[in-house]
Amino acid sequence: MRRSVITATGSYLPERILTNDELSKMVDTTDEWIVARSGITQRHIAADDELTSDLATHAAKAALEMAGLKPDDIDLIVLATATPDETFPATATVVQKNLGMTRGFAFDIQAVCTGFLYALATADNFVKSGQATRALVIGAETFSRILDWEDRTTCVLFADGAGAVILEAEDGEGTSDDRGILTSHLHSDGEKHDLLYVDGGPSSTQTTGYLRMEGREVFRHAVNNLASVVHEAMEATGLTTDDIDWLVPHQANKRIIDGTGRKLKLDPEKVVLTVDKHGNTSAASVPLALDEAVRDGRIKRGQLLLLEAMGGGFTWGSALVRW
Ligand code: ACO
Repeated sequence: MRRSVITATGSYLPERILTNDELSKMVDTTDEWIVARSGITQRHIAADDELTSDLATHAAKAALEMAGLKPDDIDLIVLATATPDETFPATATVVQKNLGMTRGFAFDIQAVCTGFLYALATADNFVKSGQATRALVIGAETFSRILDWEDRTTCVLFADGAGAVILEAEDGEGTSDDRGILTSHLHSDGEKHDLLYVDGGPSSTQTTGYLRMEGREVFRHAVNNLASVVHEAMEATGLTTDDIDWLVPHQANKRIIDGTGRKLKLDPEKVVLTVDKHGNTSAASVPLALDEAVRDGRIKRGQLLLLEAMGGGFTWGSALVRW
């Protein structure tokens, strides 16, 4: 059975760090409130001349370097973002140009914070079907550009960054011992639009708009949806949550991550946590966390990883990956 194996990771965070104390001078908030409610202590913010494609290009280059591949070894780029450089063309094609990649095809995916899981599943299907052999999957965001910096209920939570992985086709036995993406599960529920959305767009207002969120309602749905999509992945493979070596969750809020971990009865030591330093970087958060735990040696070959995310739409999803 043809499998998509993650053979390399990369990430990039803008240089500028915005601390909670700095934020408390901008809006009516405190470091204590932000840490207690979200676990976030700081976040990175892109420079004025830094675009989503720039962040994505840095992350992609780091992943290519780890894999020892050249840009033209890649057949496909799938880039997840809710903050593209332009309405069109796809930011993925800008990254293709930035990398100097002269072949293949590139497109964007929009599933907000679940974007990376959607992009990974899409690329996996292209690889499994034989339409691509090597794919670059990126999550990249400049969420600072769609925040209402006067709204303390949202501007303290979100941030900028990018993460990338390289998928390469390998033959497996078709069992859960194979390396690569073992299963992925995606969901959406358009009825929940009003709980998390951006109040602008080319077709509706001809403006970019700002992020609007009913935080408490999002929180309520997040833990249940995430726990259920994790169970779906376990059922599809016959594995149990005891088999998971690392949970690499979307880094929205430490309380959501802790709640999901508890519901799954996972040892907190098995959870990769970066929300404290990164904030919520939407589609970039899972590959950013993954890259950190790969590069510091926590994630080792043969281990079982559970990736999960939830975001606007609502959208939510999971992927079970053998490293
Ligand atoms: N600083 C100080 N006080 C604040 C701030 C702030 N930055 N923001 C809100 N408050 C106030 C509110 O006005 C409210 O005051 P009131 O009681 O006088 O009305 C009080 O704090 C409590 O507000 P709540 O919204 O009830 O606080 P809650 O405990 O729910 O925490 C939070 C808010 C952090 C947004 C939480 O609901 C949450 O994490 N929700 C999930 C949102 C999320 O992670 N979204 C990411 C996108 S989706 C995803 O990725 C899963």
